[in-house]
Parts: sequence; structure tokens; C-alpha cells
Amino acid sequence: MDREPFDHIWIHARVATFDPRVTVPCGLLADHAVAVRGDTIAAILPSNAPEVQSHRGAVTDCGGKLVTPGFIDCHTHLVWGGSRAAEWEMRLAGVPYTEIAKRGGGILSTVRATRAISEGELLQTAVPRLRALVDEGVTCVEIKSGYGLTLDDELKMLRVARRFAIVESIDVSQTLLAAHAVPPEFAGREDDYVSLIVNEMIPAVARDRLAEAVDVFCESIAFTVAQCDRIFSAARAHGLAIKGHVEQITNSHGAELVARHGGWSADHLEHLDDAGIAAMAKSGTVAVLLPGAFYFLREKQKPPVEKLRAAGVPLAVASDLNPGTSPFASIRLAMNMACVLYGLSPEEALAGVTREAAKALGRASHIGTLEAGKRADFLVWDVTHPAEIVCQLGATPRAERVVRGKASNA
Ligand code: NIG
Ligand code: FE
Repeated sequence: MDREPFDHIWIHARVATFDPRVTVPCGLLADHAVAVRGDTIAAILPSNAPEVQSHRGAVTDCGGKLVTPGFIDCHTHLVWGGSRAAEWEMRLAGVPYTEIAKRGGGILSTVRATRAISEGELLQTAVPRLRALVDEGVTCVEIKSGYGLTLDDELKMLRVARRFAIVESIDVSQTLLAAHAVPPEFAGREDDYVSLIVNEMIPAVARDRLAEAVDVFCESIAFTVAQCDRIFSAARAHGLAIKGHVEQITNSHGAELVARHGGWSADHLEHLDDAGIAAMAKSGTVAVLLPGAFYFLREKQKPPVEKLRAAGVPLAVASDLNPGTSPFASIRLAMNMACVLYGLSPEEALAGVTREAAKALGRASHIGTLEAGKRADFLVWDVTHPAEIVCQLGATPRAERVVRGKASNA
């Protein structure tokens, strides 16, 4: 007997496809059905289409609820040890982030705490953060290393990130961020640390497939453009993709460097200049906006959103979940901040955690929009308007989370 064309159909939905070919806001299709076969969207059809009517398999009646693609948090540091709440108190009392970093705090205080705990403990501390994202509808998360800064400790962090992909119903994209800070044992020998990254860490993560991309902190208090260039060249030679924390505190021309290497994304961008925008537009590099760090650092300079938009640079939004500058596990709060602080429309914010975030992780061919052939990762929301997902925080009006074609509220 022939197998049914579809395993499961979600019928009578308002489907926010975010498919750019559907040229209405959010790519919204009224009274449509999402037909799934295996882990893939087989078709998106009007609810009254004959194929939907003749389907004899599983059916979920959405009763007019909104369906969006699963959310993608394309920039997090969600694996860490320790707490930086005391540093936050210092910052509130007026001590700048850069000053705390110079005194050996900031990223390095989390490095000490992360090195001190085992892989199992690291996993345990990170689980609630991941669960919070999952509960909001995140179906794919990027997780960076960067609080180990030795070969063993960076690998330890990446192994924890990889284990999440197994224990939770979520996709994990892992990134090596060994160039996050110069570890204390290399103080004054920064280039030697870069050599360790280039000669040992990148080959090790490439060999063990522990990361898809290599990230850097290209900044006055971290690594120079020349050092990041060495790291990116090594990454590409090992077949790894490129990302960068750039122009967050100063303009260091890191975005141009990322673009020159054909990077997936340049992130933060508060101090991005016109040359950086032009370079990103040319290379198709995604601008990942991280308004959480802007908010927590009480920054004044905003990224040049209007110019990025005008240049056609894709805009993604991420939580930047980390213990120092963005200590919140909420992609919805990040979207809300992108609207309130940076002037994105709610539609842009939603696209920023779906279609555009998929581009920032090199996964646009199989996630980020709802269309036939893409993975069946989607969310069913009890809202009347897509903007409600971004506007109203606290309660999650989500009815169902579907991952790889299976309803999963884990
Ligand atoms: O994305 N900019 C550098 N990295 C992080 C901060 C990490 C930390 O302070 O622990 C960021 O904001
Ligand atoms: Fe970050």
C-alpha cells in the first residue's frame, strides 16, 4: 500500500512563512496548512486544497492560530561557570566594563570560574539557560566557547555544547571563540596565544568536528585586525566559517576583515562605519544586532541600522546570552530590545530570529522560513497579530513547538 504523502498536517493556521517570495508582511498566508513528511515540510497549501482534504493521517487543527518558523538564537555564550553579578553592581556604581576587564575581571573572571569546574558541572549550570530558550520557541542555537582559553578548556566547552544537541530537541551550531580574551598566562605574549589558536586549537576542533565556525573579539581590549586575520586564514584553511565580534566599543575595522574573509556574520556593530557597511553589503555578511549588550553596558552609540537597511545588509537579532554584558536567556526580550532600542519593526525582529538568523549560521537552505523542502521546525502561537510575540513579555502565548516534524514541548 502506498504511503500517505504527508505524515501530519497542521490545518487552519495563519502561516507566517517569512518566505521572501510571499510579498506580504511576514509572508503571511491566511487559512493555510503545513503538511509534514518525516522531518521536512512537504507542502504549504490552502486548508481547503484537495490534498489536505483527502489526507488520512494525523491532523492538528490550529483553529486560526499563528504559525512561525522556529526561532534561531544565532549568537550566545550560554556555557559558562560562575557569576558576574558583583561586577554588574560595580558597573552600576560607575566602573566601566573596559576598566573591569583591565583589572582582570570581565571575561577573565568567567574564564577562571569555567576552568575550575568539570564538564559535567558546566553542563548542569547551562541546562536551565538552554531550557529557557527552548521554552520560548528556540529550535536552533549557536553556542560559543571562549571562557576556557586553553586547548582542553575550549574543547570542554564545545563538548558541552555538542551534548545539548543530543539531550534537548534543539539544533546546536558550535563556534570556537578562543580569541575572546588574552589568557593571563599569555599576558604580554598575545601573538604566541594567537599561534596556539592557529596551530593547535583550530586544527583540533576541525578534526573533531567540534565547531562549524571561528569567532574573534576584534577590539581595543582584545585582538587586533592583524591577529584576527591570522586566525581567520587558519580557520578557512580548515574549512571553518568566519564570524566576528566587531566594532562594539570602538571602530577597529573588524567588519571589513570579516567581510573580506566572506564571513557569515559581523556582530554588535555599534561603531560600524560606512566602509564596513559597504564591505558587508558586498560580501553578503549578516549584521547580527545584540541590543542586550548595548542595554546592559548602557551604551549610547547605536549600530547604523538605517544605513545597514538601505545597503541591503541582512539584519539578524540574537540574545548574546553571556554572564557579563547580556545576562538573559530570552530571544523574545532581545527582539523587543531590537525594536525599542534600535528601531527595528516587529516584523524585522521576527525575521531577525528566523530567516536572517539562519543566514548568519550558514543554514538558510534548510531552516529559517516555512516552505516546502525546509525542515519542519515551527511554532504555533495563540496570538492575533505577529507583533504580540515581540511586544508582550513575561507570559509566552505559545501553543505548540514542532521540531523536525514532531510536536515537542520538552
Ligand atoms: O558578546 N564582546 C565580547 N564578548 C561578549 C561579552 C562576554 C563577557 O563579557 O563575558 C559579548 O558581549
Ligand atoms: Fe558575544
